[in-house]
Amino acid sequence: MKTTAFIFDLDGVIVDTAKYHFLAWKKLANGIGIDFTQTQNEQLKGVSRVKSLEKILQWGNATISETQFQELMDKKNADYLGYIEKMDAEEILPDVPKIINYLTSKNAPIALGSASKNARPILQKVNLLDAFHAIVDGTNVSKAKPDPEVFLNAAKQLNVAPEHCIVFEDSQAGVQAAKNAGMIAIGIGDAKVLHEADYVFRDFTEITISFIDNLFA
Ligand code: BG6
Ligand code: MG
Repeated sequence: MKTTAFIFDLDGVIVDTAKYHFLAWKKLANGIGIDFTQTQNEQLKGVSRVKSLEKILQWGNATISETQFQELMDKKNADYLGYIEKMDAEEILPDVPKIINYLTSKNAPIALGSASKNARPILQKVNLLDAFHAIVDGTNVSKAKPDPEVFLNAAKQLNVAPEHCIVFEDSQAGVQAAKNAGMIAIGIGDAKVLHEADYVFRDFTEITISFIDNLFA
């Protein structure tokens, strides 16, 4: 049997930081007179900090200087760090540990593939830093999802061919990145939003051990 590897996105998959990103972006957008809706937020999930701000400015038809751009990025992150400061293991989404523990018991290689530059501190806060054989995050990649770079990099570190990698993703951009990498994509969230994924589950409580076992087949 060939090795099957599993790559987890972080925000919105392992922990519900998507809600904190939303609050921070909304505050920033509204602060410069730009509306920010849940639908727009959906399009920012999985998208890097720089690209997210570019999109918000586009939606609001706003042009700003390089310096202002950097200031807004710093402001958003400072606000976001305030939200995640008190995170602990209680914020791990239901049944995520069950699946990670099962994969670990099967000796499956597992990696993190996140766009976030805050991934390592968050994993540390929720006590999952040691759960992964490889961690690829926003500090290691230059191209944002839907570019496959983050997942291809993770596959390389795990030494597993992309077609034998399975990605858990909550964002449209992330599902597209997984498919662009030639991997199997499991969407976590709304099936309508994540229609490009190979499978979609509302959350990890819907994923059974027999479903996981079949992925090894
Ligand atoms: C992704 C989030 O995981 O990371 C995005 O879904 C976020 O919302 C991106 O913009 C970058 O994160 P950070 O923590 O580096 O700003
Ligand atoms: Mg995500």
